[in-house]
Amino acid sequence: MSESSTPMLEQYKSIKSRYHDSILFFRLGDFYEMFFEDALAASEILGITLTARNKKSASPVPFCGVPFHSAERYVSKLLEFGLKVAICEQVEEGQSGKLVERRVVKVLTPGTVLGDESLDSKTNNYIASVSSDSSGYHLAHCDISTGDFAVCSLKTEVAARSELLKLMPSEVVIAVENGLCAAESAVSWNPLFTIRQDLFVSSEPGSAVMKHFGISSLAACGFDETSGAALACSALLEYMRETQMDYMPSIKLPVLYGASSCVQIDESTRKNLELVKSMTSEDGPTLIKTIDLTLTPMGGRLLRKWMDYPLTQIDEIESRLDAVENLCADSDLTDSIRTELKGVNDIERLIGRISTPSSKPRDMTALKDSLLRTSELKKIAPRAAAPLLRGAGEKIDGFDSVTGRIAATIYDEPPATLAEGGVIKEGCDPDLDEFRRLRQEGRNWISGFEQQQREKTGISSLKVGYNRVFGYYVEVTKTNIDKVPPQYVRKQTLSSSERFTTPELSEWEEKIKIAEDEMLRLEREIFEGLRREVSSVADKIRECARLIAVFDVLSCFCAVAVRNGYTRPVINGGGEIDITDGRHPVVEQIRGAGAFVANNVKMDDGENRFLLITGPNMAGKSTLIRQVALTVLMAQMGSFVPCSKAVVGITDKIFTRVGASDNLAKGLSTFMSEMVETAYIIRNCTPRSLVILDEIGRGTGTFDGMSIAWAVAEHLHQVGARSLFATHYHELANLSASNPGVKNYNVAVKKSGEEIVFLKKLVPGSSSHSYGIQVAALAGVPESVLVSARKILSSLESMRAKMTELMGAEQMTLFPDAEPEQPAENSSFGKLAEDLSRIDTMNLTPAEAIKTIEELKKKLETD
Ligand SMILES: Nc1ncnc2c1ncn2[C@@H]1O[C@H](COP(=O)(O)OP(=O)(O)O)[C@@H](O)[C@H]1O
Ligand SMILES: [Mg+2]
Repeated sequence: MSESSTPMLEQYKSIKSRYHDSILFFRLGDFYEMFFEDALAASEILGITLTARNKKSASPVPFCGVPFHSAERYVSKLLEFGLKVAICEQVEEGQSGKLVERRVVKVLTPGTVLGDESLDSKTNNYIASVSSDSSGYHLAHCDISTGDFAVCSLKTEVAARSELLKLMPSEVVIAVENGLCAAESAVSWNPLFTIRQDLFVSSEPGSAVMKHFGISSLAACGFDETSGAALACSALLEYMRETQMDYMPSIKLPVLYGASSCVQIDESTRKNLELVKSMTSEDGPTLIKTIDLTLTPMGGRLLRKWMDYPLTQIDEIESRLDAVENLCADSDLTDSIRTELKGVNDIERLIGRISTPSSKPRDMTALKDSLLRTSELKKIAPRAAAPLLRGAGEKIDGFDSVTGRIAATIYDEPPATLAEGGVIKEGCDPDLDEFRRLRQEGRNWISGFEQQQREKTGISSLKVGYNRVFGYYVEVTKTNIDKVPPQYVRKQTLSSSERFTTPELSEWEEKIKIAEDEMLRLEREIFEGLRREVSSVADKIRECARLIAVFDVLSCFCAVAVRNGYTRPVINGGGEIDITDGRHPVVEQIRGAGAFVANNVKMDDGENRFLLITGPNMAGKSTLIRQVALTVLMAQMGSFVPCSKAVVGITDKIFTRVGASDNLAKGLSTFMSEMVETAYIIRNCTPRSLVILDEIGRGTGTFDGMSIAWAVAEHLHQVGARSLFATHYHELANLSASNPGVKNYNVAVKKSGEEIVFLKKLVPGSSSHSYGIQVAALAGVPESVLVSARKILSSLESMRAKMTELMGAEQMTLFPDAEPEQPAENSSFGKLAEDLSRIDTMNLTPAEAIKTIEELKKKLETD
């Protein structure tokens, strides 16, 4: 033992050596203390005072501490920092002169916390694990607070990363550091990566899962015992059990989910459509904020899930839509449902906490109050006509026996903890009542004793008091000290008074203490019994929570539809997307009622599969094409949509890409990233996909950009994906000449003199002008600059006219009304088109693409 060491510090070091990657909260009486490097780190993060033990010695020991009763707040802050916290408790009663035994009872990590302090009610807090093998990546995720446990298998790293970015787990357990571990600054997702190779080597991948759930096959999960999915689940489960120890809450059996049963939306698309995060500011408007009128945390989380995984099965979508329509038509029904929902707490997380020994009395009462509401919902549900609502209503259980037991056992407004007693109701247990009576008797005796002693001694200021260290005492001020009777025994001396006890007082004190100890022991015991009883139906309560969430989201869809004037979409398996009077759900809210110009968009999988939308900056192109994607997405979630009429032929994937200059935040060369993203679409889209391209090709010079845009457009046209392509290269309008599925549209502007007015109206045909100078004028660019800009423009335009002439085709015409013809075979432009069509885009690397473009450009220039 070194000079500065003590047996306690030795004990600390030995425990810490087993939890070297966690901050160790070492329980010392009423505090959790941290020592050495933990103290340095934690004091800094938590802003608490750092001091030292053995300050004067050669090697002082830095330490800091937090009170145990407010520890949760501090723990949650450390977790936010991506740290783990090991809670080390005293596991036996202290005896003087002997070192108390201590043990780590739980390790808290960002992905496995249960406390309210660390959890946002409307989002799931996932922990994920990823295993990989020759078949691809297997990604398991669990929300330990709600019990959700699921796994999916994905072929590529891109897909696995995309899924991770969708779930945004706060912790990822992985065998080795790999490409999945790169931080993603664009969506501020910065999870803790826990590297644990040992968890991923197992000769029986599924054994941990089977053992935990006591089953002999994983057939019910949808994957088999030897699969990579089983390994991912087992690794995750083992890690959770290792950190939770005795506090492992009950979780559901893992289920396999597949990407094919829902609309695939990759990360760029989610970002560009601003589904859950705004691109402009941290708390800017998003789709989820616009449509989230859910009333319960479970509902909020389910809405998010429905948005992350829109449906592709028509009957499932229809059954949600039927329910929303039913609710919209019956406002009394909706009001009754929503009134009950308002009183429902986070049942999923409550039952999660109740299934562990750290459960608190108020978890029980909150659960009871919520379950009482669910039995009301059960009574209301038969008033609904839609099968989804009726079915959910039938399956909901009121849990009368559970609520009855809680109501009979626990006071309606119990104290926050069991520490002081007063949690268990009178009449619940005769022994408890008796000990309470005895304690009261003791207390009564003591107050009588005070009066009696005052009279006996003649000291009117004599007081009987209590403190935790010395117990009961009689206090006499120093001025009265000579009146103290001889049988008083001195206990404690204060500056102005003395404290005594008497044999009688000690006797009663002992009686009260015994009664109190017994009382607390019984209260704990009864609470624990109730806790186990309620936990035994945890799975059923979770199922009930899920049904409540369904009611919540469906009634939220109804509330949003009514508030914002949405309609029911017609869903079918055809190729049409036909939207009448469509609006952008988020922008229309910002603009305010009436200020948003509605538009019709009609596409199909034939003649109108590729809509090329031209128009100057600020015309409203970006808004329009996004609103189509959002409308389709909402429809496939089962929500009503912002328009007067919509026909949506099911989509399998939605892609959205934005030209590089709108995307400068990324580190990659802008043009490069644009090409990488575009190549991804080209490789992955199908005729059933919806592709939204906004100013693709803008990240490079005009000619390169236009050529790329042209080639991409032709390819998408060939695949047959329904596409909306917004561009200010109005020259692209010529695409329609050789591609029968391409239709030109523009967002209209009206010119009056030098001024332009944005009409925000989509009209057929391409626009003939980019109105750059007019937009600049609107933006307040000084007149002198505009004058020279006009001069430069007019000379450039005459140059362009000459060039067009040179190219020998009307292809590059600037006049929208002219009917373009097929490219003349021998013109430069015709040759260019031919060369372009020969390019095998599918097998082109971005570098090759750039090279090819350079060559094409040179050819064009030399011809
Ligand atoms: N249909 C519309 N009705 C009202 N305002 C609109 C409409 N479409 C777009 N806007 C507004 O006009 C501005 C420009 O729209 P945007 O879609 O970015 O144009 P573009 O992509 O053509 O440059 C934005 O502020 C947007 O909110
Ligand atoms: Mg735009």
